[in-house]
Amino acid sequence: MIIQLCGMSGVGKSTITDLVKKRLIKNGYQIEVIDGDEYRKALCKDLGFSKEDRNENINRLSFVASKLSAYGIIVIISAINPYDEVRRKVARSYQNVKTVFIDCPVNELIKRDTKGLYNKALLPDGHPDKIYNLTGINDAFDRPENPDLYINTAGQAVKDCTDKLYDFIADCWSKICSKYD
Ligand code: ADX
Repeated sequence: MIIQLCGMSGVGKSTITDLVKKRLIKNGYQIEVIDGDEYRKALCKDLGFSKEDRNENINRLSFVASKLSAYGIIVIISAINPYDEVRRKVARSYQNVKTVFIDCPVNELIKRDTKGLYNKALLPDGHPDKIYNLTGINDAFDRPENPDLYINTAGQAVKDCTDKLYDFIADCWSKICSKYD
């Protein structure tokens, strides 16, 4: 099973995913997280943030995910994954893919700004530190219309968000396993 997350930087993907991973391992599940930030330092270090590069990034992450998933490992792809077209392609190309939208209003993300990226994207044009392709500010994010699961991290405790994703994964996994009974 492949869980493809999507959601803007700072939305809480890594926080939620780390906690869900720990809980899944504790309860005997085999789980791997394919994290956008981590893979951009290795397998995807040649890629930038153009639409083509972001789509290529997801193509590679989902390919790795499919190989692990074939061994019965639950794989979470934790990346911004902003384009509908490539998310649909992933869902079409591989078996048992679920799309989870982690959402939060941009104003809240600007307040959180854990990596300082929003501050840089909001600098005046021409400023030497300005970034021009930050998802949600000056680059596109296609909101998925019918995600398999929707989590809004604004005004919701981390534990509630984590419970929601954990319960969803456990439920999907038990449905997949019941086909083999
Ligand atoms: S994706 O769009 O191709 O799915 P991915 O999740 O791999 O993105 O990488 C996003 C991470 O790159 C963010 O968490 C952030 O740390 C970093 N980053 C640097 N520049 C940008 C940018 N312009 N837009 C989005 N993320 C950026």
